[in-house]
Amino acid sequence: MRLSEKAAIVTGAASGIGRAIALRFAREGACVVVADRNDTRGADTVLAIRNAGGKALYAHADVTNENDVAAMTRVCLDAYGRIDVLVNNAAICEGSDVLDIEPSVWDLNVQVVLKSVYLCSRTVLPIMVGQKSGSIVNIASVNGLTALGNAAYSAAKAGVINLTQNMACAYGPDGIRVNAIAPGTVATEIWEPRLRENPRVLDRIAEWYPLKRVGKPDDIANAALFLASDEASFATGATFVIDGGLTAGMRKWVEDAGADER
Ligand SMILES: NC(=O)c1ccc[n+]([C@@H]2O[C@H](COP(=O)([O-])OP(=O)(O)OC[C@H]3O[C@@H](n4cnc5c(N)ncnc54)[C@H](O)[C@@H]3O)[C@@H](O)[C@H]2O)c1
Repeated sequence: MRLSEKAAIVTGAASGIGRAIALRFAREGACVVVADRNDTRGADTVLAIRNAGGKALYAHADVTNENDVAAMTRVCLDAYGRIDVLVNNAAICEGSDVLDIEPSVWDLNVQVVLKSVYLCSRTVLPIMVGQKSGSIVNIASVNGLTALGNAAYSAAKAGVINLTQNMACAYGPDGIRVNAIAPGTVATEIWEPRLRENPRVLDRIAEWYPLKRVGKPDDIANAALFLASDEASFATGATFVIDGGLTAGMRKWVEDAGADER
């Protein structure tokens, strides 16, 4: 098992990618703290882990709230005595264009997407420094790499990528690795508002992907498992793009340019 004897905190683990990461980590032997603000669904993730024979506890945490983050950290330390892995996964995605986004919505995106990574990391890092080991995995997005709309969310995700690099350089000497994952589209509940507007939106955007499909939560959980585990012992400050090829190039441009006959 790739995470045996390890204790991991996964934020936003009540749903989607976070839930898949929590389940995957537990299958690989980790003791998992499932952290979320949705208590009912968080408890459901814990139950699913236990039913599969794994170890998990729930911690109520709004990741923008310093006291909640401190309490989440204590849950892990009190139960498991250490924190080996922190996955900063919780996020929201609100607003579209700069002219449409109200300042309060801008602030909310930055708080939940970016400030939470700072808050959770600054609470957990001293423990990892004391252990002289640890792995932080930040779930960023392809939106942090290029212009794909949702301006506030995307700018905050770009910030997550830079924060990942800064923390990797600062805490590498303490034996701590910090990496990011930039997923492309993954079919989760974050897409529900747009699915309500257009039930075929995921089928339509699948056409933009060289692999001709959108991602599954397990596609990202597998990458998170690698980065969390000792198999990634020389990886730090990296952004692992798991996007079905979306940002690898622009096929339509190639076709319009007549640069390739395929
Ligand atoms: N689904 C995609 O297409 C996609 C693409 C790229 C990146 N991502 C990123 O993947 C991560 C997971 O997204 P998902 O698609 O699984 O979304 P999701 O909506 O299914 O899950 C998000 C979880 O975060 C929790 N959450 C939201 N705000 C919180 C807060 N303030 N405190 C604590 N918990 C909070 C929610 O309750 C939910 O359980 C996010 O960082 C998201 O930006 C998703």
